Parts: sequence; structure tokens; C-alpha cells
Amino acid sequence: MQSNGNSQTTGQLTKTNIMVNILEIKVNEVKGQILKALRECSDYLSGETLSNQLSTSRVSIWKHIRSLKKDGYVIKASPGGYRLFSSPDLLLPYEFPDLEQRIHYFPEIGSTMDVARELAKKGAGEGTIVIAEVQTRGRGRLSREWLSPKGGIYFTLLLRPRISPAYAPRINLMASVAVAVTIRKLFGLKAELKWPNDVLIEGKKLCGILAEMDAEMDVVNFVNLGIGINANTSIPQFEKTATSLKDVLGKEISRKKFLSALLMEIERQKTLLMKADLLEEWKKLSATLNNDVRIVAAGEVIVGRAIDIDTTGALIVKEEDGSVKEAVAGDCIHLREEAPNTDI
Ligand code: BTN
Repeated sequence: MQSNGNSQTTGQLTKTNIMVNILEIKVNEVKGQILKALRECSDYLSGETLSNQLSTSRVSIWKHIRSLKKDGYVIKASPGGYRLFSSPDLLLPYEFPDLEQRIHYFPEIGSTMDVARELAKKGAGEGTIVIAEVQTRGRGRLSREWLSPKGGIYFTLLLRPRISPAYAPRINLMASVAVAVTIRKLFGLKAELKWPNDVLIEGKKLCGILAEMDAEMDVVNFVNLGIGINANTSIPQFEKTATSLKDVLGKEISRKKFLSALLMEIERQKTLLMKADLLEEWKKLSATLNNDVRIVAAGEVIVGRAIDIDTTGALIVKEEDGSVKEAVAGDCIHLREEAPNTDI
């Protein structure tokens, strides 16, 4: 649901702006149905037809049309009715038919992770999605900042997997596979994966994934899966390690189509979460395996050849002296993409 005016201007997380608002869900549904009807009609569609189709009054149709125009939809009215001329590339809930009831939409927010956490604590269900056009305090892994200007895709998906917490890292693998597969399918680009969960194009980072878990000894209460994609953002020339879809393709993409396809792919990959197929798929897409890597984890540096991942998603690295180490988390650097390195 779209956040209220207060949260839009302040970007603050308030009780009000995360409240499940039945009325707003209804509004989103009607707006979605109006858009669908207008899109299916190549001419003007009369208010009367719309009101009959949607079993609502003409005044209500008029109000929803006015609200859609405010959102940026160009809808012209004539004596013959309404006609849709163009839609903004916003990730508004009613652009995602069948999902709009699960979507919490914010033009601007601190971090979608914070909102998702609040919702999860309040019992929101599997598949709840928090989307923001802009984040003012976007978070990355290892307490880093995640710059989130307009044009990117920023969302958190709430999951309640029935798995042991030890296997939670597989959720990162699953999400990164879903992003890479979507990019390959939609754009034919060679998206690759860098352990633990970056998606690269031409060796540069295009997408970051952050999973935050709430668990007890052997039960996962929820995992919030945060995904940030450099979609229609332009990466400054001096930034050598990041890229965006816009920069790679030389044109803007439809973020709506991309997110829609990605959410579908995540649904598909979720069914493989505990299957060997997921690891196989990750290995096929991996730019880390068989590469020389340096892993910096809490208090430890592992340098060697990445030879495998285990069933929990840990990276297996063979060091120069032949010893085999397992990295569960940390920062991974691909050494062959860097200047020749004397460490190994
Ligand atoms: C990383 O590579 O460090 C992970 C970046 C994750 C960014 C996403 S954007 C949506 C969600 N909200 C956040 O504040 N972070 C994640």
C-alpha cells in the first residue's frame, strides 16, 4: 500500500505509514482494475462501462482516475470516456496485478529493511513486499551504506522459510540466482554471481542482496531479503567496480517489467531452495568458482582458489599450501580481476 503523506515527506518509519490499511488495499485494487481496463481498450472507454465492469459508481471511477493522474498516469477524458496515453515508470502496487495486496509502497523511505522488520514483527505473511523509489538510509552488507537514488529498484521481500537457520545463507544464493536468471532472460546479458550474493555484469556489481534473519536455535522466524538493483541509475565514470543496466544497455529499462519478472523468478527459485538444483544453478552462474579469491571475514583472511560451495552456501577455498578452508560469510575479492597479486 502507498505510504501516507507524512512518510513521503519525512521518509521516517512511523507506525502510521506501515499500518495495514484495508481501505488503501481496496483503492489499489480498483486503480489496478481501471488501469487494466484502459490498457485493454484501444479507444476511449466510457465511465459507464467502467463503472459497470467494476461494480462501482461513476463518481468513484472519476475519483480513482483523478488519483491515477496524480500518480503520473496520462489519462485524457472526452465525452466518449477515458483513455490512457502513458504510464509513469513507478513501482506502484497496482502495476503488479495479483500482488498489490502484498505490496507496501514508499516514494521515499529510510530503508525498506526497517519497514519490513516492523511488518514481520507484527506478523505480516510470507511474500510481503516493501518497495521504495528512493531510500535515504539504504543499508548494505557489513554495515555499509547502499546509495539508493531515483531510478534504482529497492525492495525487501519477507520470507518465512521452514528451514534450519544453518541453511539460511541458501536464501542469498537463491536470490542472486533469480536476479541473474532474470537479467539473462530479459536482456541476454551475461550476468554472473560473486559469492556470497553479488550479481555482476562484466565483472562490475549491478545488484546487492542483504538478508536479515530473525531466528531461534532451530527455527527461522523470518528472513527479510533486501535487493537493490542499479537499474536506470547512471554510475559515475570514476566508479570502476559498479555498473547499471542503463549504462550497460545504453538505454533505460522498464523497471516495472523487470521487477515483475524478478518476483516471478524468485517464486520459481524458492521451490528449489533446499534442492541440489539450486546449488548447481548457482555454480553454473558463478564467477567466483575456480577463481583466485581473497575472503576477509571477521578476524580472518582466506586467500586461495575457490573450489566449491557446500550445502549451507559456504565457500570452500583451497589455499596455496593445500589446506582447505570454509568461508561462511565475509567480503570476497576476485583476485584475477585485480592487478597481479603477489599474495598467492
Ligand atoms: C550489499 O551488496 O551490500 C547489499 C545491498 C542491499 C541493498 C538493498 S536495497 C533494498 C534493501 N533496503 C536496504 O536498505 N538494503 C537493501
